[in-house]
Amino acid sequence: MGIASTLRTRYFDVLASIYLYNEHRGYTSLDRVLEAVRVRCPDDQAFQAEIAKHRADERTHYVMFRRWFERQGRMPLEVDSGVGHIDRFIQWVFRCRIEDLDTHRIVTQPQEFERLCRIIMLTEQRGLKQVEIILKNRLIMSDPVMKRIFEIVHRDEPDHFLPYQRWLNRHGRATARWNERMADWCIHKVLMLYKLPALFLDMRRARMEHWPDETDGLPEGTAPA
Ligand SMILES: [Fe+2]
Ligand SMILES: [Fe+2]
Repeated sequence: MGIASTLRTRYFDVLASIYLYNEHRGYTSLDRVLEAVRVRCPDDQAFQAEIAKHRADERTHYVMFRRWFERQGRMPLEVDSGVGHIDRFIQWVFRCRIEDLDTHRIVTQPQEFERLCRIIMLTEQRGLKQVEIILKNRLIMSDPVMKRIFEIVHRDEPDHFLPYQRWLNRHGRATARWNERMADWCIHKVLMLYKLPALFLDMRRARMEHWPDETDGLPEGTAPA
């Protein structure tokens, strides 16, 4: 394999590993959000259905990246919450990990719930902008399967921030605060300018031994069967 093709393969591995992590993180975190929304807005069936659809889409996206790796015959690179946009955002705003989010507090304190809606909205808007950049990237578009995956992600993305944006508008809440927009911008820059290149250059980076969804629904820290 020539150097250009080695670098290309590496770039795809890094990109797909980051996406696979974020898609998995997305749908598993939305289970917590849905839980909160069912308590906070029990009569708003339409909003609940939109979030359930959002969750289902993120799960589909995750499966597409998993299949891409399976076709390549490789496992994704081992990555941690450092590459997770939503992980960093939750940490920044709520000062805790997603797993430790106090759903009860979020449900009982309107401001906290609104904050959570804004974080999801900003994360998804960022996701859309990023996919638009990827769709113009000739290297990424040169892989037909990857091209198709990102076209599907692009098609789905508006449904991932509009429900939260509309909910905030319906309740007359600010759709985003300057400091939250600033946090989103900084997190994105750290991921693109530091995390992604560092992963690309880290040739000793191990690969995952199990798929992240193998432990879905099990208590944290459970080893895959
Ligand atoms: Fe997604
Ligand atoms: Fe999304």
